[in-house]
Amino acid sequence: MVDCFTKDTCKLYNSEEDTCPYMNSEIKICMRQYKINYLLDQALLSEAQKTRKALLLDVNKVDLQAFTELNTIKTNIVSFAKNGNNLYIYSKIPGNGKTSWAIKLIQSYINKIWAESQLTCRVLFINVPKFLLALKASISTHSDYIDHINTFVNSADIVVWDDIGTKVATEFEHEHLLSLIDSRLLDNKSNIFTSNIVPNELSTFVGDRLASRIINTATNIEFLGMDKRGIRLK
Ligand SMILES: Nc1ncnc2c1ncn2[C@@H]1O[C@H](COP(=O)(O)OP(=O)(O)OP(=O)(O)O)[C@@H](O)[C@H]1O
Ligand SMILES: [Mg+2]
Repeated sequence: MVDCFTKDTCKLYNSEEDTCPYMNSEIKICMRQYKINYLLDQALLSEAQKTRKALLLDVNKVDLQAFTELNTIKTNIVSFAKNGNNLYIYSKIPGNGKTSWAIKLIQSYINKIWAESQLTCRVLFINVPKFLLALKASISTHSDYIDHINTFVNSADIVVWDDIGTKVATEFEHEHLLSLIDSRLLDNKSNIFTSNIVPNELSTFVGDRLASRIINTATNIEFLGMDKRGIRLK
């Protein structure tokens, strides 16, 4: 008998025959669920970020073209990563789905590669302000978070650099980010950036050299939709 905590919701569970293609009968766990969850944990997604959310267009459909482009990237996310493609999702308006879209893309990637993947870190989600604070603190106190990022930042297939350019970076922050991102670009590794800064202002926040690398290597997609933060609570 299939004994899986996800069988009530999992589309792959066949309730009539009580079968599941991914059930490991010896250890009684769903290998698909286990591996996907492992890869999401390694990506450093929180439990809330792991849940899939529908992203809707505003009534005036102002982001239709942006969403269509992102859906195409999502469909082709495996080749996006393989080709070392980059994406810059930006908007001056907060809360209109930049981070949510970046997460959707990496969830989609994990859903496509889990079967052939080892139990390792294939994708990393790095909230840049949190990373820079932790980096500073790690100078005096050991940080598992920084360790994990340092271990996998070069090898991960896709790194999300969330909220890049929230404030003007210090010289130390500039250099650190530049060196990490530059190494990935030289290795032809994919990156997804989200930001509240329009491309031609990014250099003020992250410096000319990093801004040039980001803007000139990435597909730039702007969101113009309204702030939807908290909209589900109403
Ligand atoms: N298009 C959308 N449809 C439904 N919910 C959305 C949409 N866009 C954003 N949200 C919701 O609004 C909240 C904020 O979204 P998100 O963090 O992706 O915004 P953001 O653009 O990254 O914001 P910020 O600019 O502040 O970083 C989330 O709870 C998300 O689920
Ligand atoms: Mg965000």
